[in-house]
Amino acid sequence: MKNKVVIVGTGMVGMSYAYSMLNQGTCEELVLIDINKERALGEAIDLNHGLSFAPRKMKIYSGEYSDCKDAAIICITAGAIQVEGETRLDLLQKNTKIMKSIITEIKKSGFNGILLIASNPVDIMTYVAWKLSGYDKSKVIGSGTTLDSARLRYTLSERLDVNPKDINAYVMGEHGDSQFVAWSYALSGVQPIYQIASRKDSKISFEDLAQIEDEVKNIAYKIIECKNSTYYGIGMALTKITTAILENENSVLTVSSYLNGEYDNNDVYIAVPSIVNKDGVREVIHLPLEKNEKEKLDKSIAIMKENINTLNL
Ligand code: 2OP
Repeated sequence: MKNKVVIVGTGMVGMSYAYSMLNQGTCEELVLIDINKERALGEAIDLNHGLSFAPRKMKIYSGEYSDCKDAAIICITAGAIQVEGETRLDLLQKNTKIMKSIITEIKKSGFNGILLIASNPVDIMTYVAWKLSGYDKSKVIGSGTTLDSARLRYTLSERLDVNPKDINAYVMGEHGDSQFVAWSYALSGVQPIYQIASRKDSKISFEDLAQIEDEVKNIAYKIIECKNSTYYGIGMALTKITTAILENENSVLTVSSYLNGEYDNNDVYIAVPSIVNKDGVREVIHLPLEKNEKEKLDKSIAIMKENINTLNL
């Protein structure tokens, strides 16, 4: 397999991802596919003009589904996006239709790599992509709450005045309104955040934690209100997942993974900490969650299943 990434959908998310990969030198070959071929062509030309300033050589071009055959990763970002007043789940029917047509084309190409899904509602779209493709469950991954976990790490880092890279805290569940923070496993460096919050002289209280969780959950709505859509954060989150796969990193990321008995659940994709490497999801980390956290995860899974049941797959 070549060190080749195909992006399906050259909207703001797809292109922020592409731009981030160009800047980080993530892959050797990058193919852009869009229903609007002119747009994909223009984006490819524009990106190529940045190559003189990029950390490595990259072959970038607009292509066809036949280009998927020898790709290591295909990332699907295509689909309708949320407008003000909509939730991610409101996109379900529209984006399932789009996903079906894309998967049909990808299958025809003979692709045999990792399928990375970013279209919303991402956990369900990942299930749809897996179900329709018939690919191995570990090779179909959703971006899940990788972005939400990054938002959480950033917000906590600001409050605690600690580098976000040293905040190990995870948002789990739906990439959407039923997500939650696994506070019982949240660390600032080596200190449990619960322990920090329980100190009298602490920078952060338990009320603050609840408020931060809420802020992280709702921040996409705020961004959409301000500028119609979100893209840089997800673009960088997708780049991180891509690097974890291409570099065989074994990175722990809250991607949307298939549950097969973990967390007492199965036949669903949901974001849980997972080890990601060249094979996709090498392992779903099954954390013994606190009772209230487990209830939140179960609720999130129930919402996913309810919605999946409305689809004709
Ligand atoms: C985000 O969370 C809207 O899913 C998109 O930024």
